[in-house]
Amino acid sequence: MRIAMVGSGYVGLVSGTCFADFGHEVVCIDKDPDKIAALQAGRIPIFEPGLAALVADNARQGRLTFTTEMREAVAAADAVFIAVGTPSRRGDGFADLSYVYAAAREIAAALSGYTVVVTKSTVPVGTGDEVERIIREAAPAAEVAVVSNPEFLREGAAIADFKRPDRIVIGADDPRAAQVMSEIYRPLYLNQAPILVTGRRTAELTKYAANAFLATKITFINEIADLCEQVGANVQEVARGIGLDNRIGSKFLHAGPGYGGSCFPKDTLALVKTAQDAGTPVRLVETVVAVNDSRKRAMARKVIAACGGAVRGRTIAVLGLTFKPNTDDMRDAPSLSIIAGLQDAGARVRAYDPEGMEQARPLLPDIHYATDPYDCADGADALVLVTEWDAFRALDFARLRAAMLAPVVVDLRNVYRAEDLARRGFRYTSVGRPS
Ligand code: UGA
Repeated sequence: MRIAMVGSGYVGLVSGTCFADFGHEVVCIDKDPDKIAALQAGRIPIFEPGLAALVADNARQGRLTFTTEMREAVAAADAVFIAVGTPSRRGDGFADLSYVYAAAREIAAALSGYTVVVTKSTVPVGTGDEVERIIREAAPAAEVAVVSNPEFLREGAAIADFKRPDRIVIGADDPRAAQVMSEIYRPLYLNQAPILVTGRRTAELTKYAANAFLATKITFINEIADLCEQVGANVQEVARGIGLDNRIGSKFLHAGPGYGGSCFPKDTLALVKTAQDAGTPVRLVETVVAVNDSRKRAMARKVIAACGGAVRGRTIAVLGLTFKPNTDDMRDAPSLSIIAGLQDAGARVRAYDPEGMEQARPLLPDIHYATDPYDCADGADALVLVTEWDAFRALDFARLRAAMLAPVVVDLRNVYRAEDLARRGFRYTSVGRPS
């Protein structure tokens, strides 16, 4: 199959590369000439484990190419994927679809022969209808079907998620388009990945419902963690106790500083808006959004409490800035609210992150960026673990203790064991566990 991938950001690049690896002929398109030049030269603009090698391999085999020019690639394609950004619109939180619609207009002008246009970007219900309307208006003679094929990739594990998905959802109202999509995903049929062919609107909503449900699960366990702290219970044991029930499942029950990233905050908000507009508000998700927002800020208060109630003039060392490990993504990272809260209370902040510091600098200009965890702890009155990078799991606590002014550790990811830290002389606080 010949595939044109419109948008070579995170989703487009991972999906395009994996499709090429399936044996398809893929052209990744992007408006940004610097990005395309970098990709042509073998440089990957994002951090995703395994991606650079996969891009290099498929580019070498000639199955994966990069261009800024849409026309030729779209004209030759059996399927054109739209994988451009859908950021939250300033003001109302609704998904900004201007990039999707602009892509649809440009695609319409280049279509030739029967083509399946696929929205891969996360788009609100009904966007496929609008994409189809735009294309048919601009190119009334085009033989085209518009399909929704949401992605369920996690940053940091995107290649594995693409190649061994829990399921593939294809929203196609046209049987011929469903056939083309089946052909594209054929290698996964062989892996016996469940493929759900649904109506287009159903596929669009499935994506939001999945992310909102996962965000709800996290928020639920975070509130249970707060309760555990008050009543002397252990949230990790509660999570295990409920998660072993197959109806609940053990995943996404890790209590922490609140969810962040480029997906959950944006998608939960967009679902809330869609539901309000449809006259059927999803009150549970509205509450999840509000609870998660206030939680991030509450984590700063937790640190302040661990420091004895005040941090004015004190130095706080923050380990981990990205919204989760194995990414350099700082979008909606809990660290942003936590650090702002600490600074508002008069603290100085030192921070270290293995991959995120470059992205963090413009967002957090007034902190000291350390060269490693020990440099970060130097002269600190407290050490706060915000993101659970593997590199932070086996730190030399004697060395940290020697570098710090006061022996306070606040572990917002429940990575350490209270006994271990107590043995090394630390005052230790975690999330929803007895100290
Ligand atoms: C999420 C979904 O997991 C993917 O299935 C989906 O495709 C993607 O959004 C998307 O819509 O594109 P991602 O945002 O990369 O993926 O990251 P997750 O691993 O889901 O983590 C999201 C946030 O939840 C992180 O801040 C993480 O720390 C937090 N989290 C996750 C918890 O606090 N506890 C958990 O148990 C799990």
